Amino acid sequence: MKRFYVTTPIYYVNDRPHIGHAYTTVLADVLARAHRTFGVPAWFLTGTDEHGQKVQQAARAAGIPPREHADRTVVRFQELWRTLGITHDDFIRTTEPRHADVVQEVLQELYDRGEIYRAEYDGWYDVASETFVTERDLRVPEGGSPADLPNIVRIRESNYFFRMSAYQDWLIEHIESHPDFIRPETRRNETLGFLRTRPLGDLCISRPKSRLEWGIELPFDHDYVCYVWFDALLNYLTAIGYRRDEDRFSSWWPATVQLIGKDILTTHTVYWPTMLKALGLPMPRTVFAHGWWLMGDTKMSKSLGNVVDPMSLIGRHGPDAFRYFLIAEMALGQDASFSEAAFVRRYNSDLANDLGNLANRLFAMIGRYLGGRLPAPPPEPAGGAEAEVWGGAQRAVGAMERALSTFELDRAVAEVIAAVRGINRYLEVRAPWTLAKSADPAPLRAVLYTAAESLRVAASLLHPVAPGRMGDLRRALGCPSPDPSADELRRWGVLPEGAAVGPPAALFPRIEAAAEAAPPPSAVPPAAETAAPAEITLDEFARVRLRTARVLAAEPVPGTDKLLKLQIDLGDERRQVVAGIAKHYAPNALVGRTIVVVANLAPAKIRGVESRGMLLAASAGPELRVLTVDGDLPPGATVR
Ligand code: ME8
Ligand code: MG
Repeated sequence: MKRFYVTTPIYYVNDRPHIGHAYTTVLADVLARAHRTFGVPAWFLTGTDEHGQKVQQAARAAGIPPREHADRTVVRFQELWRTLGITHDDFIRTTEPRHADVVQEVLQELYDRGEIYRAEYDGWYDVASETFVTERDLRVPEGGSPADLPNIVRIRESNYFFRMSAYQDWLIEHIESHPDFIRPETRRNETLGFLRTRPLGDLCISRPKSRLEWGIELPFDHDYVCYVWFDALLNYLTAIGYRRDEDRFSSWWPATVQLIGKDILTTHTVYWPTMLKALGLPMPRTVFAHGWWLMGDTKMSKSLGNVVDPMSLIGRHGPDAFRYFLIAEMALGQDASFSEAAFVRRYNSDLANDLGNLANRLFAMIGRYLGGRLPAPPPEPAGGAEAEVWGGAQRAVGAMERALSTFELDRAVAEVIAAVRGINRYLEVRAPWTLAKSADPAPLRAVLYTAAESLRVAASLLHPVAPGRMGDLRRALGCPSPDPSADELRRWGVLPEGAAVGPPAALFPRIEAAAEAAPPPSAVPPAAETAAPAEITLDEFARVRLRTARVLAAEPVPGTDKLLKLQIDLGDERRQVVAGIAKHYAPNALVGRTIVVVANLAPAKIRGVESRGMLLAASAGPELRVLTVDGDLPPGATVR
């Protein structure tokens, strides 16, 4: 790979950033830094999305013009990135002329070429997501009208449309023939499933000024502004000089990876590639959609008001620990649940115990036994415990190198921590405190050097994740430069003989128990665990009819705080089931999800409410999770 261009979504300036935004940006930063470490030139773009209804509304609520609102909010993002040590090469704001002017040129060209046309639109519009929707998109209750749904209004107006439909077959083909284009696989299947099962419409790219003023004006019709997504997506091109500096542009485009959350999958894997295709531009190599940070079971989001302010955690434990937590805790592609307790657990186990203790012990021994000076490097380990510990560090180098293309940084970080534990074990096995009593100083020196050199590799690998502390640690180990470079990672004997080695000031002090969040009190009585017979036959199992079902609606059962009443779709029928999950799921959290139910359970009345079937959930202690299906399946599918 000769160059690496990474982007984050440009965030709306309707409100301050939360840890969801911090996650994507830190992920991009770690990837950019890791590429630089491995000697690959990197360009890292982030920025803000400043037009559209959300921003106009927020500005109105604040009683100030949208531009002023944007100016006030953008600094919160910029401050957070500074505090977190984010090394973006550029920060684009969509209100800058370098963006807006090029968007107008693009609009004009597409209009002149007939890729954009004018038409009457008469249909449904979702005010919340600012999108036109079809009745099929909406789950209209039988006999009801879309107008009964919240935020859905009927709109009849003239608008401009982009011929997105023309690219449906091409896009399916592109996704099928480029397995890395949409990652991870579940998201690729989601987009493919959507594209294969329904005709792609044209995209409405205008909004009449009478309804929305805050946007980029259409160059060919001054009564309209550009739809915010059509404007925003183009930032990935305008920021690197599209139509202004062709050399710069072609040195970075196509992007290597565009990081997004799964909330904006359709815009990035359907709208965006068709726009690029219409412009005759190559596709990004990968669009990677990560999972959500949840609070409990619900997505953390501005609109739900359940966000965690990253500044408070960073203030207490520092940017490095915060960055480390985000990267280590979220298994790539899956959702992760945020809690203060999870933060403290992760911090104490990996950073304070494994890494911090190792560094403290090693610095103390080098101080006591070797006067704080590194000995000469022994020959590269060829066998025994030495080869094992150095091999562990080298395996972690391999894992990090792989993560550069798979983006599985959580795994790479786990491999580094495993190597760190290996160094701790090595010290136990070789027991320098015993060797120190021997007359021959050589074994003691070799052991302490081997441990220091292996720790140097671990610190270098974690440097992109926790640059501040790992820079300190490298310096304390006597590395000539605070920033690692590619060739050092696999080389033995980098720490120079005679370097003064001293402990860095408090690497990762343990967070004491008093500060730890108390574990939540058991929220529900543990699910009845009936003694199951040791074995059943296949026939016995086959008597239980397990089927998938889609949750259409959910509401609490009045008079209890444990029960939810769910309306579910089994494909061929709809049913109501009652489940004791209210303490674990907000009613809305399950709507739209595909769950698993025992379909042939005899009907029952629970608290007077009819329940036909039972949903499956797993519980461990106070935690409970409803079983959902990985990927897309129609409701009513058989589970076996
Ligand atoms: O969608 N968990 O901006 P936005 C993980 N302006 N990531 C999260 C998250 C969560 N709970 N909440 C937000 C927009 N994010 C558009 C983008 S791009 C051309 C235009 C992250 O402010 C995640 O990256 O709503 C998500 O996709 C993004 O913030 C949405 O930020
Ligand atoms: Mg959003």
